[in-house]
Amino acid sequence: MARRTPKLYIAMVGLPAMGKSTVAAKIKENLEKDDIRVGIFNNGDVRRRIIPQNTSQASFYDPDNAEAVALREHIAAVNIAEAKAFLSADGEIAILDAANVSRKRRDTLRQRLTNYPILFVECVNDDPELLALSVARKTKLPEFSQQDPEAARVSFEQRIDYYRYIYDPTDDARELVRLDTLNNRILAERISVALPYYGRIRDLLVSDWIKNLFLVRHGESAYNLENRMGGDAGLTEKGRNQAWALSRHFIGTPLPYIFTSTRRRTLEMAEPLLEMRKGQTTHHAFKEFDEIDVGACDGMTYSEMEQQRPDLFAARAANKYDFVYPGGEGYTTMAARVYRGVKKAIYLSGNSEYIMIIGHQAVNRMILSDFLFRRAEDVPYIFIPQDKYFHIVSTQTKKLFELRKF
Ligand code: F6P
Repeated sequence: MARRTPKLYIAMVGLPAMGKSTVAAKIKENLEKDDIRVGIFNNGDVRRRIIPQNTSQASFYDPDNAEAVALREHIAAVNIAEAKAFLSADGEIAILDAANVSRKRRDTLRQRLTNYPILFVECVNDDPELLALSVARKTKLPEFSQQDPEAARVSFEQRIDYYRYIYDPTDDARELVRLDTLNNRILAERISVALPYYGRIRDLLVSDWIKNLFLVRHGESAYNLENRMGGDAGLTEKGRNQAWALSRHFIGTPLPYIFTSTRRRTLEMAEPLLEMRKGQTTHHAFKEFDEIDVGACDGMTYSEMEQQRPDLFAARAANKYDFVYPGGEGYTTMAARVYRGVKKAIYLSGNSEYIMIIGHQAVNRMILSDFLFRRAEDVPYIFIPQDKYFHIVSTQTKKLFELRKF
């Protein structure tokens, strides 16, 4: 007897800009590699398809706007019907990518999707900075093109507030996993039956997912020439040439996101790349990627440090990883903020095929150690050249680490 193909509905739950669509896309892309047929059913797509007028204004999401509520119910019903039809044909996983925050909406899903189990994936992210950055990204979408950026931001935040207002706790969801989408951490899991594909999906949810990360160090800086620590020097002529070489090397590679630190040397390294990709690349300068703060030793050369602060020089040599510069940082204390920068970069770049981080010697060592297992005491000695970059791939099915010249 032919076995019935296992099938599953996944219903996303969460406020707008919580990373739901990225999670949905990640599940689809990954499972399709094994020929599992996954469809994403997004209420927003249905809305744009069946309502020709612009629906970006916040009033469309006002729970007291009866006409809009009825329209949105209709959109949800169309989307649910399409998801159901997909599984009734040869689809295997149908992902309902919508807010689904009210109990009433989840009841509707349960009433209409009775033929296969429903897994609710609730996406939360309480980080105010990330939320602000995600809103800024959303308001760049074509549906906000009629409004100026500030008006679009206010309107989108109002939309989020409307959803917050109707958000019921998800205790009604029998099969639920709650995910912190910034940290890829499962916050709650309530699974009472054996759900098909769930083991793989859960692993995916907790994995950092980097399709292609190009990790670059800034080119030669004026301080590098003198072997000085810290400061905020710009690039030398050689460094600027390295920046151009980097930009030429990546001609033909789409780089929708480039992340740098806030320091001149990384900003100058990114300049030619951004110049050649005007309007095609989003650049974020993160303090999380600033070089190790060497506190009392800022601006010193290594030999000046040895002469002026032999105590510190000896302590650092004895245990470089745990050594903390007075008034500054050490590898051990900078780890958390650098890792947070990586999480932010991954989150903001969504499901992008390629991203680039332009960092510094100590910062890039920490980033590498996040992807590759290195003993803590070895991290401060990882070689971080200025004319090569690390190409890193880290997905469920592929881990790649390659040092390449540009
Ligand atoms: O020398 C360049 C630099 O980026 C300094 O600003 C920083 O203090 C140092 O590298 C970090 O590397 P290390 O820990 O090996 O001194």
